[in-house]
Amino acid sequence: MAKIDIQNCLEDIEKVAKINEGKNLKYSIFTMGCQLNENDSEKMCGMMEKMNYTKTDDLQEADLIVFNTCCVRENAEDKLFGKLGEVKKYKEKCGAIIAIGGCMMQEKHIVEKLKQSYPFFDIVFGPHTLEQFPTDLYKIICNRKRIEDILDIDGNIIEGLPIKRDSNIKASVAIMNGCNNFCSYCIVPYVRGRERSREPRDIIEEIKELANQGYKEIMLLGQNVNSYLRVEKEKNIPFEEYEGVNSFATLLRAVNKIEGIERIRFISPHPKDFTDDVIDAISECDKVCKLVHLPLQSGSTEILKVMNRKYTKEQYLNLVEKMKNKIPNLTLSTDIIVGFPGETEEDFLDTLDVVEKVKFEQVYMFIYSRRVGTPADKMENQVPEEIKHKRFDRLKKLVEKQIEIRNKEYVGTVQNILIEGRSKTNENVLTGRTDSNKVVVLEGNDDLIGKVLPAKIVSEHMWFLRGEMWDVRSGL
Ligand code: 5AD
Ligand code: SF4
Repeated sequence: MAKIDIQNCLEDIEKVAKINEGKNLKYSIFTMGCQLNENDSEKMCGMMEKMNYTKTDDLQEADLIVFNTCCVRENAEDKLFGKLGEVKKYKEKCGAIIAIGGCMMQEKHIVEKLKQSYPFFDIVFGPHTLEQFPTDLYKIICNRKRIEDILDIDGNIIEGLPIKRDSNIKASVAIMNGCNNFCSYCIVPYVRGRERSREPRDIIEEIKELANQGYKEIMLLGQNVNSYLRVEKEKNIPFEEYEGVNSFATLLRAVNKIEGIERIRFISPHPKDFTDDVIDAISECDKVCKLVHLPLQSGSTEILKVMNRKYTKEQYLNLVEKMKNKIPNLTLSTDIIVGFPGETEEDFLDTLDVVEKVKFEQVYMFIYSRRVGTPADKMENQVPEEIKHKRFDRLKKLVEKQIEIRNKEYVGTVQNILIEGRSKTNENVLTGRTDSNKVVVLEGNDDLIGKVLPAKIVSEHMWFLRGEMWDVRSGL
């Protein structure tokens, strides 16, 4: 697999670090969108800290303001433009450097709009040019001329960038990038380029290092994780098998063997690629969490076809059945889009029907958002806004009712909780998560942080459960 040479990047990090030495400079970063973007932001933070910037949440004192944008839905654009309006003041007052990166910057019409309406930015870069960021910054510091560093390419693999992770217990690890599925509503394949996987060795070694540093939970990331290494095999792109890893299932098994790691999660798999070997690996690997995120998008076979999802309602339900049979204690979460072009009341009822049947642990609900350049945007039978919103509210009601029922089922059970730290809203309690990713708050000392411990669930609230540490010996 083609890897980008980051020698220049590392040298420019050094150069900027020297210029900034002793100046007490600060940076602020805004991240929008998915966990892959959050992972990219952690790399940007890693680079900025190496360049002698320290993080601040106070925009007024930031010398460098970075936006890592998303373009999956339109509301991210509104958010970016709103925030840029605010940032303009600080630019005028203190001369902060403004850098805008991420998926939205791969969209030409957005960059044009930025130039017209927000011409005060200094750097634009896309997700393919992350490693160029220090070089762009160096050039800006030296001669203050705006830089646009967006590459219209399929994208390569970048290895070895510095990283500053948000948590010291949970770490996300991108295993692949890009997407070849071209779901008709989705902009991702156009902005993140073609699907490509990291070398097994790079992933395994990164996770071993994380285990050495004390990380307990690994989230494997990709737009389509269960087709890890598929494109490479199909196109005879060479990769090196390492510790038996030559597919997603074998990757799960290899990570499961890494000492010190206690939990493994992954997002997002595609239902059409959910092969039996992956189901077996989830079932047999004790560290792989039994919560599977299985994006449904729509429950209607007709709509799924126009979405180019390549499965029917029945195939999805059969897959769920098979997984439930093979994986004890399986829980499921999903993504659903309402108001896709041409969605009738009957189609929508099919979506509600699947939700009723599957009983998801969590549903991420989205109102269909038109994305320039995608096939669905060109469809003439767009659903009126009012209907989309009404359907969204109906789906939300059903989901909330199900979550309430599900939460009640937790009360009285004992769950293994990975304790993540003190609650951000209440210093007196700890928070952690169940295998099924439910937030649990409980009392306890700081020395429990980072451990997986049993707790008895004593009460439920809409978005969290309350638990008490469970003494295994006494059963109290
Ligand atoms: N409109 C609404 N939701 C979308 N998603 C992707 N594209 C769109 C769109 N154009 C949702 C899908 C996907 C999740 C990450 O975002 O449900 O799984
Ligand atoms: Fe978008 Fe579909 Fe690819 Fe997911 S699988 S990133 S929804 S095109």
